[in-house]
Amino acid sequence: MQRRGYAHLDTILTRNATQFVTPVTLEAITGRMPYTGTFEPGRTLSHIDLVQGSGLLAIVPATANMLAKMAGGIGDDLLSTSYLAADCPVLVAPSMNTKMMEHPATVRNLARLREDGVYLVDPDDGYLACGTYGRGRMPDVPALADHLELALHRPHGILSGKRVLIASGGTSEPIDPVRSITNRSTGKMGSELAGAFLRAGASVKLVTGTGSARYPATADRQQVETAAEMAQAVSAAAAEADIIVMAAAVADYTPAEPASEKRKKTGDPIVLPMDPTVDILKQLGSIHAGKKILVGFAAETSNVEQYATGKLKEKQADLIVGNRVGAADTGFGSDTNEAVLVARDGQVINTGCITKEALAVRIVGEVKRLSGDRHA
Ligand code: CTP
Repeated sequence: MQRRGYAHLDTILTRNATQFVTPVTLEAITGRMPYTGTFEPGRTLSHIDLVQGSGLLAIVPATANMLAKMAGGIGDDLLSTSYLAADCPVLVAPSMNTKMMEHPATVRNLARLREDGVYLVDPDDGYLACGTYGRGRMPDVPALADHLELALHRPHGILSGKRVLIASGGTSEPIDPVRSITNRSTGKMGSELAGAFLRAGASVKLVTGTGSARYPATADRQQVETAAEMAQAVSAAAAEADIIVMAAAVADYTPAEPASEKRKKTGDPIVLPMDPTVDILKQLGSIHAGKKILVGFAAETSNVEQYATGKLKEKQADLIVGNRVGAADTGFGSDTNEAVLVARDGQVINTGCITKEALAVRIVGEVKRLSGDRHA
């Protein structure tokens, strides 16, 4: 996910943390002097001032000891007293040896903190500082950043409590065990949409095909390959969604008889018989139109608004995002897009050339507007 501007960042180092990282290192990174104790001259009430003006308190990594103090309401250092004084969302990323993680006391403390409304980031499996392999490793920085962003934005989201299903990326249709027909979709638009809906407070289920995009770690993701697998996965998840976005570039045709053995070259031209695939959005429209918000895309090389309007009607969607493909600064693989948003109530918005991130935010806004008159 791209960087979205800077936050003011204050850091607290516990006494033990200063054994690993020096205050000077953190000052150099954040540009602000870290807090290291409750009774620093001139900063005596810092546990109140620090958190009560903050958008988020993040404890990364959190030790078994800190979890126990938080769960028990003990405030005996600056970090634990700051937690007690916090009136902002609190995110905690526990990280420790696997046995410590699995100890009934830690399990109990984590359950308690979850009940208390703390946003817990599950640790990864992996190599730990103690030389063993297991659960307890701190998640990678990009995944942590996704969680921080979600914890920060979710409470203010305009789509809080909504469930969004997004299909993203391309599909790959096998010709034989080593070859397939695919397209140029990277999944970047779907990834930006997932981020924008998450920041708007919705929960996001992703069905993703081919492409190199990185998706937010905070979305529930299912990977598929073919158009048929995508159709199956999307229709299975549709019932649980209030809003469905088909941002995927789904193959319209698939080889009718994929070979089970590698096809050998003969030197002659070949003709590959192809069968049409299911039009997933059209199928969703025939079942869910008027009950769920359905959003589709129209990837066009010309007459974008005209084709988008046609697809809106044909597929019974609420919103079609028409975008030009085939040029350098718009469409597949590009960071920017030039889109026309055609809504079922006749509203047409020309975005001009904007980033895919900004387009995703516009789409979320339109979804909110269109869901205003129904319970989606
Ligand atoms: N779509 C779909 N299932 C398909 C093909 C497309 O759900 N088998 C969806 C896409 O995800 C997109 C919308 O339909 O939201 C329009 O896709 P697009 O490729 O622009 O158009 P098509 O309907 O395939 O028509 P054409 O290729 O003729 O433009």
